[in-house]
Amino acid sequence: MQLIIDTEHNLALWAADRYERLLAEVPEAVLGLATGSSPLRVYDELAARVAAGTMSFASARAFTLDEYVGLPAGHPGSYRRVIDEDFARRVDFADGAVQGPDGTASDLSEAAAEYERRIVSAGGIDLQILGIGTNGHIAFNEPGSSVHSRTRVEVLSEQTRTDNARFFGGDIDAVPTRCLTQGIGTILEAREIILLAIGANKASAVAAMVEGAPSERVPATALRSHPRVTVLADAAAAAALTPEARASARSADAVRA
Ligand code: GLP
Repeated sequence: MQLIIDTEHNLALWAADRYERLLAEVPEAVLGLATGSSPLRVYDELAARVAAGTMSFASARAFTLDEYVGLPAGHPGSYRRVIDEDFARRVDFADGAVQGPDGTASDLSEAAAEYERRIVSAGGIDLQILGIGTNGHIAFNEPGSSVHSRTRVEVLSEQTRTDNARFFGGDIDAVPTRCLTQGIGTILEAREIILLAIGANKASAVAAMVEGAPSERVPATALRSHPRVTVLADAAAAAALTPEARASARSADAVRA
C-alpha cells in the first residue's frame, strides 16, 4: 500500500496524472468510479483536462460502485445522478459507457449478479477510485462485510445514513436503508486502486486501514492484500497515523511523473 500525503489539490493532480497515463496507454480502459465528496477535486481536474483537449474518455468505459435501493431514476440523491453531474457529463464518455447497479430492479439479487457479469464481460476494472467511510467502509461494504463479498444488497449502518443525510436535506429518514454495492471481493479484482481520504473525520478510519490489524470490522483493511493500492490522504486525514507511517509516506510532488 503506497501512501501519499499532500494537499487535496496536489493529490488531485497526482490522481489525474495517473488517469491521463492510463488512458494514453489504453484508451479503452475500464474505470471504476466512486461517488462522494472525496474524489470531487480529481473529477474537476479530469474535466479541466478534457476541456483543454489533453485527455479523452471517448473510448473508455466505467462502472460505479454502488447505488441506493428504491430511489427513482433522476432522484437527486441517486448515485447514478450524482456521478453524472459530478463527473460523467463533464467529460466525453460515449453514450451508455457509464453503468451502475440498478437499485430500482424488482429482483435485486439478479440485478447484483447481472452487474458482476457486466464487469467481467468488460474485462474487469483497470483503475478503481475509492473513498472511505468514517466507519472504514469502502463502497457500501459496511463493517462485517466479507473480503470475499460480491455485488449484493447491503443494509446501511446508522453511521452511514447519518453521514449521508447531508445529501438528503439533512433528513436521515429520507436516506434509504438499503443499497446495492460491489463487494469487497469485486473491488479487490480491480487491477489498480486509488483511495482518497480527505478531512479530519477520516483520520481514525485511515489509521485503522493503514496500520490496524486486518479485520472485517474495518472493511478498508482488505485493501492491504491488494498489490497495487495508493492511499492519497490530506494532512487532516493522515493525522492519526503514527509518526513512522507518516515518515514513510511521500508527497504527491515527489511521485508525480
Ligand atoms: C458513501 C459511499 C462511499 C464513499 C463514502 C465516503 O457512503 N458509498 O463510496 O467512499 O460515502 O464519502 P465522502 O467521500 O463524501 O466522505
